[in-house]
Amino acid sequence: MLEQTLAIVKPDAVRKKYAGSILARYEKEGFRVRALKMRLLSKTEAEGFYAVHRERPFFGSLVNFMVGGPVVLVVLEKDNAILAHRKLMGATDPAKADKDTLRALYGESIESNAVHGSDSPETARFEIPYFFSTTEIIG
Ligand code: CMP
Repeated sequence: MLEQTLAIVKPDAVRKKYAGSILARYEKEGFRVRALKMRLLSKTEAEGFYAVHRERPFFGSLVNFMVGGPVVLVVLEKDNAILAHRKLMGATDPAKADKDTLRALYGESIESNAVHGSDSPETARFEIPYFFSTTEIIG
């Protein structure tokens, strides 16, 4: 089933100039880029985006990390895009991610793990409109 998922190239990967390589990999793996923008998130935006994690001990640090530099926000489309993107990202902790996954290639720690992806259709339905209006999603 054709699906859309939200991908975020996180501040660590943008800072290290990996954004282009990550976008190229998405195209190579057959994802269509339906929307794309670079943003510096506000603290309120990052807190709202990760609200599901607000009780976790790493929440404050995660929010500070996500507002520490620009992110690249992407809507990707493909058959079973959510699962396909999760597989392409690899495990949350880059040290545990399979070889050649984005987090193994570009992540440096469980927090600075290069990319985010929606983890379910329900999450994608929250995350995509969190950053994109319908007119910003093309095709
Ligand atoms: P992400 O897929 O964006 O979803 C939540 C983020 O929280 C996750 O990637 C990591 O960047 C971060 N995270 C998850 N677990 C931990 C942890 N134990 N310590 C620090 N950060 C974490």
